[in-house]
Amino acid sequence: GPILLVGPPGVGKGTQAKVIMSAWHVPQISTGDLLRGNVSAGTELGLLAKQVMGRGELVSDDLVNRMVAVRLREPDCVQGFVLDGFPRTIGQAAWLDTFLERECHTLPVVAIQLKVDYTHLVRRVTGRRNCPTCGSIYNVYLQPPKTDELCDLDGTPLQRRSDDTEEVFAERLRSYEAQTEPVVAHYRAMNRLADLDGDQPVDAVTAGVLAAVKRLR
Ligand code: AP5
Ligand code: ZN
Repeated sequence: GPILLVGPPGVGKGTQAKVIMSAWHVPQISTGDLLRGNVSAGTELGLLAKQVMGRGELVSDDLVNRMVAVRLREPDCVQGFVLDGFPRTIGQAAWLDTFLERECHTLPVVAIQLKVDYTHLVRRVTGRRNCPTCGSIYNVYLQPPKTDELCDLDGTPLQRRSDDTEEVFAERLRSYEAQTEPVVAHYRAMNRLADLDGDQPVDAVTAGVLAAVKRLR
């Protein structure tokens, strides 16, 4: 069934989602990546989302839900999927519950809350670099590439996200506390939530994610 990764900016949702994708051959659906794709393609949605993302605020439920609906109706989602960064408001969670019930007939969701001490998140976010070719995620302090600023897999120069500054990070964290923490409570109340310490090596976090999925599904 669907796996939902929930947690503050920089906690490791994207990193873990990519590992699950290759381990279990299910697609990773990152609303942040989908939105950034729209921004760089200059679509109508991208134009609407760009300023909001630059301020570290959340794009409206209506726009994000419609984008997710299109993606979840694609054939590769039939066997399950990993959602990374969605739902992040109570409105999105309620919408997803209804959507899955009506259209997906999958097993119930497993929501995993990743936790890292807030004081450690700043380095994760400001040190992050992404490969525009293959999507690999690095960190100049914590997960550096073998050659400075180049992707290990394909040699592409790594990029930094424009919202990965300390200022925008602080606002993203505020959005998380105000709007996404209630989502955690929503899945906890449904007994569909596992908490996991994200402040461990990537492999150890992955082992915890896989164990939580087996336990809850
Ligand atoms: P989004 O792209 O989802 O950003 P985010 O939630 O802030 O999460 P991040 O991508 O920053 O972090 P992550 O948890 O994926 O961490 P990662 O694995 O990269 O959203 C961006 C914006 O889009 C939002 O602000 C909003 O405007 C909009 N948006 C997106 N979804 C939305 C929605 N549903 N509704 C409304 N608006 C939406 O890791 C971070 C770093 O740490 C990396 O450098 C990595 O190498 C390193 N790292 C990871 N794990 C470890 C580890 N175990 N040990 C050491 N280092 C690690
Ligand atoms: Zn690459």
